[in-house]
Amino acid sequence: MTATTRIDIPSTLAALPSFPRLQGKRVQLRGPRAEDADAVFALFADPDVMRYWSRPPMTTRGEAEGLIAEIQDAFEQRAMLNWVVTGRSDDRVIGTCTLFRIEPRHRRAEIGYALHRDHWGHGLAAEAVALSLDWAFRTLALHRVEADIDPRNDGSRKLLQRLGFASEGLLRQRYFVGDAISDTELFGLLAQDWSSRQD
Ligand SMILES: CC(C)(COP(=O)(O)OP(=O)(O)OC[C@H]1O[C@@H](n2cnc3c(N)ncnc32)[C@H](O)[C@@H]1OP(=O)(O)O)[C@@H](O)C(=O)NCCC(=O)NCCS
Repeated sequence: MTATTRIDIPSTLAALPSFPRLQGKRVQLRGPRAEDADAVFALFADPDVMRYWSRPPMTTRGEAEGLIAEIQDAFEQRAMLNWVVTGRSDDRVIGTCTLFRIEPRHRRAEIGYALHRDHWGHGLAAEAVALSLDWAFRTLALHRVEADIDPRNDGSRKLLQRLGFASEGLLRQRYFVGDAISDTELFGLLAQDWSSRQD
């Protein structure tokens, strides 16, 4: 066992004084605030963003307010970290990046992310996800991070592969979204995969 794997995940989470703020070259990740509701609604009401999401698009601003309150509450319980993504110098929310289903016993968690369509294709999502992965592997000393995607979601698959995730299999008919049912492709990234890329 290495020194890092002795990090106690629940205690580390409990000791966080506030939502961790992560700074990259072009994006920042921070906790959401009530005044982000318009931008969060603009993100999750867009059918293109929600095309492969596990829920239908939002239809009211109140859903965004509710989501922000849920995220804040989940952080208070230290159950999940749902960062909002902003530009480096512009505080407006352009996306989200979430570390959830944190399982201390197995030292693993799942990751999810979404970026406003206006910002697709510039590597901002990859930068944001890399920041949160780095935090998860260094601060929590996770052993494994998982992502499950709709197999038709080529942008998401490319992003994961670019960050070193391996495709680990297809789970059939896993999500009902409205009247449709969709498969999942499961991806995994191990701490050793991540650290070997940072050398
Ligand atoms: C998935 C998502 C975050 C990717 O955003 P992005 O801005 O394209 O991501 P990045 O620019 O960091 O790069 C991802 C890679 O995918 C490629 N890509 C993006 N969209 C693509 C598409 N529709 N088809 C094929 N490749 C695509 C990019 O060119 C880039 O490739 P590269 O690494 O060779 O340069 C964005 O499409 C999104 O928010 N989608 C809606 C929400 C969603 O589906 N989230 C994932 C749920 S699991």
